[in-house]
Amino acid sequence: MSDRVPDCTVFLDGSAVRAVAGEPVAVGLWAAGVRVLSRSVKYHRPRAAFCLAGHCGACLMRIDGQPNVKACQTALREGQRIEHQNSWPAGEHDLLGAADAVFPRGMDHHTMFTSPRAANALLRKMVHRLGGLGRLPERGGELAALPSGRRRKVDVAVIGAGPAGLAAALTCAQDGKRSVVVYDEQDRPGGSLLSHPRFGIAAADALAAEARAVGVELRCHAAAIAWYPEDDGGLLAIDDGGVLTKLTARRYIYATGSYDVNALFENNDRPGIWAARAVGLLATRYRVKLAGRTAILGDGAYAHALAEALASAGSNVEHLASERVLRARGRLWVSGLDLEGGRRVRCDRVAVAAVPAPASELARQHGAAVELRAKGGGFACLVDGRGATRVDQVYACGDVCGFVGVEAARAHGHSVGRAVAESLA
Ligand code: FES
Repeated sequence: MSDRVPDCTVFLDGSAVRAVAGEPVAVGLWAAGVRVLSRSVKYHRPRAAFCLAGHCGACLMRIDGQPNVKACQTALREGQRIEHQNSWPAGEHDLLGAADAVFPRGMDHHTMFTSPRAANALLRKMVHRLGGLGRLPERGGELAALPSGRRRKVDVAVIGAGPAGLAAALTCAQDGKRSVVVYDEQDRPGGSLLSHPRFGIAAADALAAEARAVGVELRCHAAAIAWYPEDDGGLLAIDDGGVLTKLTARRYIYATGSYDVNALFENNDRPGIWAARAVGLLATRYRVKLAGRTAILGDGAYAHALAEALASAGSNVEHLASERVLRARGRLWVSGLDLEGGRRVRCDRVAVAAVPAPASELARQHGAAVELRAKGGGFACLVDGRGATRVDQVYACGDVCGFVGVEAARAHGHSVGRAVAESLA
């Protein structure tokens, strides 16, 4: 039984919704029974959260007058104004979708230029509205560039506060001889520990507390944006809670984890089809009651752990470890799956546990070599036995070097942290 107690009121398209303050908008709305968050640009397909990690872009909504805000990365607060995007009058009943009947292949605005000028302007406005190209923000201030920021120098900078990053930072700082700071874009440390049914918040907090106890500085809501090699011998730009930090370190450790990927089948974008780790977050971190039936796709360790945890919490689970899915059923949200061989499975949500892809862009930008992994569909950082990349002073650990899962990522973090400490000794 869920112990979530709604304690604030937000307004979705003007209607009051009770929610838990501080939770992500996407989670609060889902828990309140809202299934469609927006419509897709051009084709008006229903959209809802998939990853709950800020990586897929499926949860964009208009929040407090700002368009294209990630609802999974925005905390709920009293009085917030939330709107569906690209739909009218509501996300689930979208009359703008009628445009698809007239333009079945999507609207091509180039064919709609006309004259005179006034008619052209009117038509352009109509195409923008129907095609979902958005409404401008009510205010412009939030879109301004970050303030020019501050310089910072540390011994070791770790990017990513998941199991690998926390373990690396902890091991590196243990002898108290160097300054170690960890940056993470999420609202709390833990990364994939938070969504894992066998670990969860308690394990994440324990590892973070251990790291803090040896002097590691943990900074959340702090996203590493880019590496600038030409600036003063190179610096890492961090959006640290809206303030730009220009960071230089004697060693950099990339522990940026991995991205959830979807499986390939028809209608795999239906609301209710989630990344398995997002379902893990709903159940483990946010304690959302998962009523009805969950279909879990995938045969990896995480799929099995999730199936076991949901079943033991009393949920109805259909684990499709090796079956091939042909299409999802349901017009606005998923109601079932058609499998190869003609079998049909009824379900209220789907958890896709495909092999996650390494989040290697930043390390790659810093010069690290990567290689394409056939399994997992992503580019993994190439490192040696000490976690060193081909670039001096740059290391990587955990899933960014190829998906390994929570325990192996943590072990890799410890060993890379040790190697980095030795290199600075
Ligand atoms: S970016 Fe919000 S659910 Fe993926």
